[in-house]
Amino acid sequence: MAVAGAAAVRYPMWALAGASTAGNLLLGVDYYPDQTPESLWDEDSRMMSEVGFTNVRIAEFAWALMEPAEGKFDFAWLRRAVETLHKHDISIILGTPSAAPPPWLTVKYPDVVEVNEKGERLHPGGRRFTCPTNQVYRRLSLSIASEMAREFANTPGVIGWQIDNELTLGSSLRCYCNFCQAGFQAWLRSKYGNLDTLNKSWGTVFWSQTYTDFAQIPVPLPSGGDPNPGLALDYDRYQSYANVSFQEEQLVMLRKTCPRHFVTTNNVGLLDTIDLRSLYEKLDFVAFDNYPGFFEMLLHEQSAGPISPDTISSNVALGHDLARSIKGGKPFMIMEEQSGKAGQRTFSPQPEKGKVRLWTYQAVAHGAMGVNYFRWDTATFGAEEYWHGILNHDRSKSPGYDEIRQAVKELKALGPEVLNSNYAADMALVFDNDCSWAVKIQPGHNALSYMTQVMSWFSAMSASHTGIDVIAPGADLAAYKIVFAPVVYVLSEAQAARIRSFVQGGGVFVTNFRLGVKTETSQIVRTPLPGLLRDVMGVTVADYVPIYSAKQGVKFSSTLAGPDATCGIWADILQPAGAEVLGSYTSGEHAGEAAVTMNSFGKGKAVYIGGDLDAASLARVLRAVAASAGVKRPFDVPAGVELTVRKSGDKQWIFLLNHTSVAQTVSLPKPFTDLLTKEAQSGTIELSGYGVKVLQAVGSV
Ligand code: GAL
Repeated sequence: MAVAGAAAVRYPMWALAGASTAGNLLLGVDYYPDQTPESLWDEDSRMMSEVGFTNVRIAEFAWALMEPAEGKFDFAWLRRAVETLHKHDISIILGTPSAAPPPWLTVKYPDVVEVNEKGERLHPGGRRFTCPTNQVYRRLSLSIASEMAREFANTPGVIGWQIDNELTLGSSLRCYCNFCQAGFQAWLRSKYGNLDTLNKSWGTVFWSQTYTDFAQIPVPLPSGGDPNPGLALDYDRYQSYANVSFQEEQLVMLRKTCPRHFVTTNNVGLLDTIDLRSLYEKLDFVAFDNYPGFFEMLLHEQSAGPISPDTISSNVALGHDLARSIKGGKPFMIMEEQSGKAGQRTFSPQPEKGKVRLWTYQAVAHGAMGVNYFRWDTATFGAEEYWHGILNHDRSKSPGYDEIRQAVKELKALGPEVLNSNYAADMALVFDNDCSWAVKIQPGHNALSYMTQVMSWFSAMSASHTGIDVIAPGADLAAYKIVFAPVVYVLSEAQAARIRSFVQGGGVFVTNFRLGVKTETSQIVRTPLPGLLRDVMGVTVADYVPIYSAKQGVKFSSTLAGPDATCGIWADILQPAGAEVLGSYTSGEHAGEAAVTMNSFGKGKAVYIGGDLDAASLARVLRAVAASAGVKRPFDVPAGVELTVRKSGDKQWIFLLNHTSVAQTVSLPKPFTDLLTKEAQSGTIELSGYGVKVLQAVGSV
């Protein structure tokens, strides 16, 4: 079996493991034999096979059944489940169960339970309530995972592992217990080497916080005032590190015990509770959970008005683009894809006909190589009785059943080549955990959220259908024509140097307010803003103005001439030093002063958007700058329709995704073949409501 070049995941090992994965596809379902009477396993496996599924993921919450008492293991039931599934040609991804410890464990070792940000210890009874540092918990998690690995290393049908489940995504996102405090102190010792450096880096002389012993350093629990910002930022980094290293203990073991299996973990889209790049660094591929309807329900809880299809689809696309970009463009997997109404206490909207298939294609359009649906049957007990699967509570077929069967059949027919192709992106958006954490610690304005900024910049650009990667601040920028980086509040010297040489070499860098305010240790720079990038941007920030009740606007000129913008919560007042002014403030004492500038630096350009522009103006400005940087879409599509491109050698797959409920017409610039129907397509074509087309140019095959 050939190694899939683009993906460079452990495909050949699946074959060695004796798996039949229908040409390396992962089109499966999340299954809970532990929650299902054994008498139904055979019927379930047969039905899964009829749907066309290649694999399941199982056992990630079954610790209590696998280790009913400390050190007493029982895998007989799991082995029978694996054998039943394999008999029906379904391969198995096993989950290690550390996200939900059994009661015997927490009663015997109560210290493993997490302490939240108020200093209160959580209680067992839910899941994801354990400390990532606690050595006892690490030992017991590794022990059950090791026993599982030994048991199933050579079992036919088993192809890979998911470590744990959605690390950090519990009710408390961080642990603040004594073990974490000691772990933090040790981590600081290795980071700073000595207390003098640490004290200077954080500025602990403020409020008499000078540490004379590492053992004196606290964690940021409620105190008489806010914690030192440097300490708080390092604590976010430490908690991320602790969770990643918790996972890596299991990974090291799995690599040794199951060298023929792939290993991954699952998490969700845009997330700043853990550094996703570190989390996936040593894993074979990224696996994400995707719940667009659940997300829609959360948005409804937060906002009074109607939510547009574009808002949902672009936020989902952001998760996919991040997932793909984490491993430099390698295909990723959806480990859990919403298949029906989803919710714990309340139901999310019922996905309308066509939506589950559309979500599947959206993932593939953005670079997924496989999709597992959540979940096979719907639980009749437990905290997720409302989370609908492919079978309803009474085991009848859910409304999404036929769509899923259709999507699986179509994706198999499309074949592994498209699922292992690359996604084309000329643009990049920087997503930086440090900036998100530092802004949360001191937002500057209560309404400023780094994540919201990233989402609105992404939405502005994703609707332009031009392909965008979501990259780390340390990524190589040279591959892109244009790089967007909102609220670069923390700016390291290395990142500033990368941006400088990108612009010098001809790239276009677009950023906004709060640029370069802080060093990596969360001290404010002593130079005029924007600090390290003042020469590149060709401006000095004369003042920065948080906006509350005052009104502010921006009038555009020159290449950006167009309707005025309103300014939401922030205005950096710019003093050009070489940069061209493209927009000026309209009101108050800063009326007429520069709000938006563009500087020529080396062969490239640097754009500074000083004001917090309304969404429509931001989109207009970002798209105009991208167009001037030479970024083009293949052809125009109507609002609500998404267009993405995947490429492999000379071949191109164009995905057209209609996120609206009504039919949309699209004008094609040349003849294509619709790969799903094999029909020729040219001129004006119709996409049905929530419809999908995968097109290939005639002659390119
Ligand atoms: C995911 C989680 C699953 C299940 C699902 C539905 O986030 O990984 O275990 O809980 O949500 O709630």
